Parts: sequence; structure tokens; C-alpha cells
Amino acid sequence: MENEEKWKKAGELTWKAIEYGEKLIKPGKTYLEIAEAIEEFIKDNGGDTAFPPNMSRNKEAAHYSPGVDDDRVIGETDIIKLDCGVQIDGYIGDASKTIDLSGENGKLVEASEQALENAIALIKAGQDSRRISEEIEETIRSYGFEPIRNLGGHVISRWILHTGYSIPNAPAGNFKFEEDMIVAIEPFASTGRGLVHEGPETTIFMIEGKLRARNPISRKVYNYALEKYKTLPFNERYMLPVAKGFQLRVALRELSSTGSFHPYPILIDTGLVSQREVTVRVEKDGAVVLTK
Ligand code: CO
Repeated sequence: MENEEKWKKAGELTWKAIEYGEKLIKPGKTYLEIAEAIEEFIKDNGGDTAFPPNMSRNKEAAHYSPGVDDDRVIGETDIIKLDCGVQIDGYIGDASKTIDLSGENGKLVEASEQALENAIALIKAGQDSRRISEEIEETIRSYGFEPIRNLGGHVISRWILHTGYSIPNAPAGNFKFEEDMIVAIEPFASTGRGLVHEGPETTIFMIEGKLRARNPISRKVYNYALEKYKTLPFNERYMLPVAKGFQLRVALRELSSTGSFHPYPILIDTGLVSQREVTVRVEKDGAVVLTK
């Protein structure tokens, strides 16, 4: 495959970032200091974020990444989905692991891990994506939990985290896997209803459309985001070199409301959530895990 080594390198650094972050996660520390340490680790190792480190807590399933001045402290019993993305020259790795600080959610954690393992065993060129969704749903239900059916895996290409092909955690739609496709598989298991909704808070954004904003600060924020993050998601913190405080909030709101930026609100379910994710390369007769 063309650029096979580059996908592998991005995948390996992604998994190193997860392992590095996992060791730092301790009750009493702030989520912000962990996120900043992971970002620094990725940069020190020759990569950049493909999206801000996510540490969605408890009923949050995805898209919690500490924002500006976030002082939230890691709790004694938090169940944290550490989800990291790394890009090197646009080649992306995407992986996650659940950290259960209470130690009381072993089965919930195992459900998403087993679902991932079963799913990967079925991936090969020509396979239906629907079959993978079925396997994830069945495995998680066999543990007595609900798969989060409005979340799922996604096909990745260079500079593009979600190409539009998705592999939901319960069957919906279908496409056929092709040789050399880069795919993230990410089962989510929940003790709740298995359907996330958007919470009130957003710290992650991505460029979605042309620059449509009058405010000079908004224009500055947009141009900086375009230059630094291109087609990949970023955190509001990443805009601090060009705007701060109230002005930054106003700019993010204006750019989101005009369709220049796509906001990614925190996604929340009604129960506790676990997640496990890897990025794989599809082969003729199987799949190779890149994020390890
Ligand atoms: Co992903």
C-alpha cells in the first residue's frame, strides 16, 4: 500500500499517547493538565493532534475535551474514555481506551473491548459494514448493556477524520470494506438507553465552510484555524494565540452560527458509558491494527 509506513507511524504514536495519558490520569488532577501533557507528548514525538484529546466522563460518551480555564478535577470514581487522535503530515491514527477509576465497571469496559475484538475478526476486503455493526450490537447486548447506536466507527483518509462512511454500533446503512481502507472501529457500551444527545457545552470545532464573519477577531480566528488545523478538529484553547476571553467566545459563536465552523458539543447518554477504539488497515483476508 502507498504510504503504509506513514499510516503505521501515526497509528503507533496514537497508541503511545493513550498509554502516556492513561498513566497520568489520577483522581485530584485536573482534566486540563492531562490534556495539555498529552498534547505536548504528541508534539515532542513528531506528531500533532488529529483532534483534541477527549476525556469524556461517566455519562458523557464523546467530545469532552477541556476548554479554556477548565478547572474540573478527576473524581475518585470517574469512568473516563481517553480518545486520542494523532496526525503526521495528514496521516491519522484514532484510538481510545476506557479508564475505570472506581474499578466497579469491569463488565461494562469488557463489553466494548470484546465488541471491538469480535468486530475486527470479521473485517476484510469485501465484507459488509453492516455485518460489523451487527456483531458490535450483539456482543454488547450479550453483556446486558446497550450499544450507543448513534455513534460508531468511520473511514479515514489523509487529512480527513470522517470521510462520510460510518460503521454505527447497531446496523444502519451499508458499504463494503475495500483493501487498504483505513478504518476506525469504536464500540460504545452503555448502562443507559444507548442513544446520545448533545449537551450544552462545546469546546471542539472544525472548519466546515467558507469564512463568513464580519468581526475582525472572528476573521483572525478562522484564518488561524485554517492555517494550523486545516480539515481537522481543534479545541477552543488552540485559538488562544489569536484571541482570548470574551472575544474568543464571541468569535467561536459567530463562526459556528454562520456555518464557518462546525461545533462538536459534548455527547451524553442516560447511563455510564465505556468505549474502546482502534484504527485498522483493511487487507484481503483480514485487518491490521495500526494503533498499537
Ligand atoms: Co474515532
